[in-house]
Amino acid sequence: MSSAGAAATVEAIAAKESSQNASPPYQVTKGINGLDKVSLRGARGNSVEIYLYGGQVTSWKNEHGEELLFVSNKAVFKPPKAIRGGIPLCFPQFANNGPLEGHGFARNRFWIIDPSPPPFATPSTNKTYVDLLLKPTEVDLKIWPHSFEFRLRVTLGPSGDLLLTSRVRNTSADGKPFSFTFAYHTYFSVSDISEIRIEGLETLDYLDNLQNKQRFTEQGDAITFESEIDRVYLTTPTKIAILDHEKKRTFVIRKDGLPDAGKMVVYRSVVWNPWDKKAKAMADFGDSEYRHMVCVESAAVEKAITLKPGEEWKGRQELSVVPSSYCSGQLDPQRVLKGRV
Ligand code: BG6
Repeated sequence: MSSAGAAATVEAIAAKESSQNASPPYQVTKGINGLDKVSLRGARGNSVEIYLYGGQVTSWKNEHGEELLFVSNKAVFKPPKAIRGGIPLCFPQFANNGPLEGHGFARNRFWIIDPSPPPFATPSTNKTYVDLLLKPTEVDLKIWPHSFEFRLRVTLGPSGDLLLTSRVRNTSADGKPFSFTFAYHTYFSVSDISEIRIEGLETLDYLDNLQNKQRFTEQGDAITFESEIDRVYLTTPTKIAILDHEKKRTFVIRKDGLPDAGKMVVYRSVVWNPWDKKAKAMADFGDSEYRHMVCVESAAVEKAITLKPGEEWKGRQELSVVPSSYCSGQLDPQRVLKGRV
């Protein structure tokens, strides 16, 4: 959909909501380059911003107005380039593992505000959310011939947590299943990459993208960074922490994939930092910005998700921030995997 088309739809939905006398819990304004931007604001002053371009969260702030996500100063807010930072959605293909452009096309398409989102099996009492929708255009169907509806609910929790719930449905009339891979490609803002540690992935196996996807076992008691890292951790626990000593804060990432649709999906965790050489090679990324970001991505990759017509997959990622001392050493992945933490 064109930017103008998306804007018309946004206005139509806002008008519908005001005629029903229900003021939506979000605001739509113009962001960079006139792109539509949705804002959510919590009672304590926390906030979230989402661009309809990419259905992409680009800002998540705590009650002090501090930004928790990283967006590059060189990010291009203009199609067809995906926005560098925030939480891009990789769909229907992760990375270059298939015929589509890297990380699929959902991150550089115009999403709309969902005019009639189907209810969730367990309704939430929290009303600070927005529902977005992506459906394939004629052009998309030529490069990926499958009808789908991708619904994204972005929720700002009462204590400032950020919850993303994705629901992907096969709406094909041809009776054929389709398969896809997926990731919440979250860019976290950190004080200094050399000062942080990631806990919850130690002792686990990973595929190293920098070494032809060879399989290794994590040996350290946490992941620390001294050079480029690009790894897919396999069979990872539902809870992972990024400890930032300088900022005295810890990000906690929780993820799960769809027990209610009867199909368990094993989430992987992709850990990526481009370091200096790759940073210089990326036109939409500052030369030294790699120091202030880390990507820890909740991903359904390596093993694709398959949906028959009418079937739906649901996958969630919940982000919260706690004081630094909270998690250190408490996330034994083997215990977390067995559900004891
Ligand atoms: C990560 C991949 O998920 O995304 C990396 O593991 C890749 O290999 C990175 O470089 C950024 O991808 P892109 O397409 O946004 O430049």
